[in-house]
Amino acid sequence: MPDHDEKLARVKRRLEAAGQSHALTFYDRLDNVARRALVDQIDALNLEALPGLVEKYVRSKPSFAPAGEIQPAPYYPKDEGSPTRPWDRAAMKRAGEEIVRAGKVAAFTVAGGQGTRLGYDGPKGQFPGGAVTKKPLFQCLAEWIIAASKKYGVTIPWYIMTSPLNHEATRVFLAANNFFGMSEKDVMLFPQGEMPSFDLRTGKMLLAEPGVVATNPDGHGGSLLALARSGAIADMRRRGVEHISYVQIDNPLARVIDPVFIGLHARAPDSSGEMSSKMVAKSDPAERVGVFARVGGKTCVVEYSDLPKEMAEARHADHRLKFNAGSIAIHVIGVSFVQRLNEVENAGGGGFALDFHRAEKKVPYIDLEDGRRIEPMQPNAVKLEAFVFDALALCKSSIVYETDRVEEFAPIKNAEGADSPATCREIQTVRAARWLGMSGVEVPRDESGKPVCTLEISPMTAMEPEDLRGVKLPKVIEKGAAVAI
Ligand code: UD1
Repeated sequence: MPDHDEKLARVKRRLEAAGQSHALTFYDRLDNVARRALVDQIDALNLEALPGLVEKYVRSKPSFAPAGEIQPAPYYPKDEGSPTRPWDRAAMKRAGEEIVRAGKVAAFTVAGGQGTRLGYDGPKGQFPGGAVTKKPLFQCLAEWIIAASKKYGVTIPWYIMTSPLNHEATRVFLAANNFFGMSEKDVMLFPQGEMPSFDLRTGKMLLAEPGVVATNPDGHGGSLLALARSGAIADMRRRGVEHISYVQIDNPLARVIDPVFIGLHARAPDSSGEMSSKMVAKSDPAERVGVFARVGGKTCVVEYSDLPKEMAEARHADHRLKFNAGSIAIHVIGVSFVQRLNEVENAGGGGFALDFHRAEKKVPYIDLEDGRRIEPMQPNAVKLEAFVFDALALCKSSIVYETDRVEEFAPIKNAEGADSPATCREIQTVRAARWLGMSGVEVPRDESGKPVCTLEISPMTAMEPEDLRGVKLPKVIEKGAAVAI
């Protein structure tokens, strides 16, 4: 095995230089297959960057240090006639439609997360998303792309970022379901990068098995490198795609292709066309969403955990929250912007990387003394993740567009309570009731006006309320009924 011996020698040298030689503690006890797999896994890690990362994020806890005063970010209000910032929605929609029709837009979904909070074992995109049909989250998004492709008479390719942990399962699931009606050649899956999980006290990489380093996906911020490394950007260039419509897998109500937003991103006078964002007004000061802010002349997202309480609670004279622009993690990103970012090589040759965020987590690990597997009761590890919205500060300028929460934000993050399957069903129902009401359908409601039924409208039927004109609809929905249209 001369090749393997060479690789092993290289890995040993690199581990030693990084202060991580313990990763081979059990090497001699492994069989040949496991030895090769371990050496390959370690060789693929950016070991040269580890000493710096351990110093910066494990041995110390970087504190949130804004580069200037935090001000609320300006945004295009959902009411285009608002005196604070009038704008022409119809013109932006026309511009966006023209761009979509010209084949310049791709859909991109980040689906590499571990879904730990939901307690769902498997790719989150398999989780039921349709309020009535229970169709999987992947299908909810695929149907939007197909509907937009039909409406604008164009092929809209779909790029999906998985993680090494769920890549194969995702591929098998999509193939078994015939890509939910999309053409296989227009769906490209690629895995994001991984980071080792570090021992909280020592900064050593943890072992998940005697022959496996414990790793975690490198955060949705890793998508900016993965898009380039995977060949997705090159594929977009070949197809003439200029704008990437970015949504998370957890939100079945996302307007995956939204001409108004694309028009603003590409044509608004204050947009650089690099990266734009959608926001909704926060439901209350404590809602756990990042807020759009301006720091040092740049638009950015301040995570809820970093926003000082007095700022989160500050209000204007008319009682509106001062920092009310909640991020719903929907962006349009310029293909040229991603290319530009990837032209900058960082130290260690690991490719483009945003700063990381540190999270203390419980990660099962192998005791280096006796090889036993330990299930920690307390957080024992530091995981490092990059957040895609940190790229906003790298834009020359960046715009934010306000949208209506009920129209496009119903994420499934938790098994119960806020942002759960139950709240997602409710919001889908409220939106469908609103749209059906506009077409004269009678929807049963309780005293507070809440619909007492479950409703779901497929984007294949209607992407906006006007699309329901000409569709055969029931006159009345029965109380307690579950209706999919
Ligand atoms: C995120 C945002 C928050 C925003 C909210 C809106 C962060 C840190 N915060 O919160 O500001 O208000 O969404 O819904 O993102 N993912 C990957 N790879 C990873 C990690 C995540 O693809 O390594 C994907 C997940 O599959 C999921 C999405 O990113 O689609 C969201 O990740 P998650 O960590 O759940 O973010 P939230 O805490 O929900």
